[in-house]
Formats: sequence, structure tokens, C-alpha cells
Amino acid sequence: MSRSVVVTGASTGIGRACVDQLVRAGFTVWASVRTDEDEAALHRDHPEAVRVLRLDLTDPTSIEAAGELVRAAGPLHGLVNNAGVALPGPLEYLPVDVFRRQIEVNLVGQLAVTQAMLPALRLSRERGEDARIVMIGSIGGRIAGPMLGPYHASKFGLVGLTDSLRAELAPSGIRVVLIEPGAVATPIWGRGTAAADDLAKTLPAGAERYAKQIAATRANAARSAAHGIPPARAAQAVVRTLTAPRPRPRRVVGPDATVAAALVRLLPYRLLYRLAAR
Ligand SMILES: NC(=O)c1ccc[n+]([C@@H]2O[C@H](COP(=O)([O-])OP(=O)(O)OC[C@H]3O[C@@H](n4cnc5c(N)ncnc54)[C@H](OP(=O)(O)O)[C@@H]3O)[C@@H](O)[C@H]2O)c1
Repeated sequence: MSRSVVVTGASTGIGRACVDQLVRAGFTVWASVRTDEDEAALHRDHPEAVRVLRLDLTDPTSIEAAGELVRAAGPLHGLVNNAGVALPGPLEYLPVDVFRRQIEVNLVGQLAVTQAMLPALRLSRERGEDARIVMIGSIGGRIAGPMLGPYHASKFGLVGLTDSLRAELAPSGIRVVLIEPGAVATPIWGRGTAAADDLAKTLPAGAERYAKQIAATRANAARSAAHGIPPARAAQAVVRTLTAPRPRPRRVVGPDATVAAALVRLLPYRLLYRLAAR
């Protein structure tokens, strides 16, 4: 029987690339999606090696049902907490419900899925095999710019959640790794811009004072969607993390993320924050 891995958010982008590469590497993959079309696409492309989970991170019942299915199937080698959204907007005017949704999906959801899958990961350890959790963070969890406050809050939060989880699970031999990509060319950028368009319709006149920063953020999103690294590059880092004998606890992915991580390490705060504001 091949080893199993759960990947959340497997319809598009990094999650879908992870599914494809994990199947190629010989894993059985539990892939989570939210629609019939995405479920059918996975069955079509991977009729043997993929089992589909229907899971919405904002719906605890669906997370528990997915956990039950996975736990009933036996030991789990890996969990890739990948699903996420980017909900941009100026914090001064951002409806608090939008902020709540961002945190619910990118942070609360990651913990809930982890709790649901941990018994199956522990089973793997009890049988003398490996068990690993991979969190898809972001370089946006190390440095924050304007207009993406909700997203940064979720990814900075994920760093703390991951660090605590790593420490708590170390005695059980379950490794916890944070992957921190820079710009990856996936639908998340277009989806974020669409969310910004929706939000713009509800913002009061005062939000005009952020027009320049909003325009710059849109231009940056378009650039990232066009010139970000392919999702397969990020997926490679995930597969390595799940297969290397001793994976690094944190792994930055992509040239822009590598430069940004170095700047965060080296620059004094005053200079760093001046750069980030641009
Ligand atoms: N792209 C980048 O530049 C970049 C950089 C750093 C980190 N990341 C992180 O990488 C991860 C994957 O993003 P991506 O770039 O591959 O974006 P993506 O193509 O938009 O994929 C996001 C995935 O998350 C799923 N998802 C969204 N909301 C969900 C919910 N409430 N419940 C369950 N699933 C949900 C989506 O499913 P639906 O199709 O059903 O909406 C989709 O499968 C995210 O955590 C993101 O923050 C991305």
C-alpha cells in the first residue's frame, strides 16, 4: 500500500500541482475541493491514486467528515495545509467580517484540519513510520505591505501557529514544516483582485485617500500573476519536504522571497518598513 498525503485546496494553483507531483512520486493523495467540476477533474486525471475530499475550511462539519474518512483509512504520512485566499483592502475601512473570513480560512481552518488529521498522522508514527505536516505560509508572513493587511495577518499568524505546533509535536516525532513562497503564478491573484473590486463598491468616499496604494497593489498582483514562479516550483518544495530524510523546518521558495527574507534579516527596521510601504 502506498503512503497517503492529504492536500487541501487541490482545485488549482499550488495545491493542484502538489497533487500531480505527489501522485508521480508514488503517493496516494486525499485531495480536497469544493465543487463537482473540480472533483470530476481530479477523478479524470488521477482515476487511481487520488481520493477526493469535499471540504470547506469555513464549515466545521465538512472538516470533521473529511477527517473521519481519512482516519478510517489508516495511517497518514503527510498533511499539506495549502488552501487559502487573499482578501485585500485598506484596514481603516475594511469590513471586520471580511477580516474575520480571511482569518477563518487561512488560520482557523488550518488548525481545524490539522486537529482532524492528527490521529491518522499519529497512527503512522505508532507503526514506526514518518508523519509530517506542511503549512503553506508566505513570504508575506515575514514582511507586510499596504492593502494586504488581512492576508499578512493570517500568514504572520500561521508562523506562530506552526512554530507552536512544531514544538508540541516534536516529542511525538511528527515534523512540522513551513513553506514560504514568494509570488507564484496562480489564480489567487485574480481572485484577490476580484475581491478588491467587490469591496471597492462598498467603501466610503474617504477610501479615495488610498487610491494610489490600491492601484499599486493591483499592478503588483497583475505582475505576480504574469511573472510569478510556476506552481510546480512550489509543489517541488512540498514533495521534497515530504520525502527528505531531515527536512528543514522552514523553506523560502522563489527568487523574490529569497531576497525579501535576506532584507528582513539584514536591514534595520526603519529602512525595512520604508521599503515595505512602497
Ligand atoms: N500564489 C502565490 O503567489 C502564493 C504565494 C505565497 C503563498 N501562497 C499560498 O499558497 C496557498 C495556495 O494558493 P494558490 O496561490 O495556489 O491559490 P489558488 O490557486 O487560488 O488556490 C487556492 C485553493 O484554496 C481553496 N480554497 C479557498 N477557500 C477555501 C475554503 N474556504 N475552503 C476550502 N478550500 C478553499 C481553493 O478552492 P476553490 O477553487 O474551491 O476556491 C483553491 O483550491 C495559499 O495558502 C496561499 O496563501 C500563494
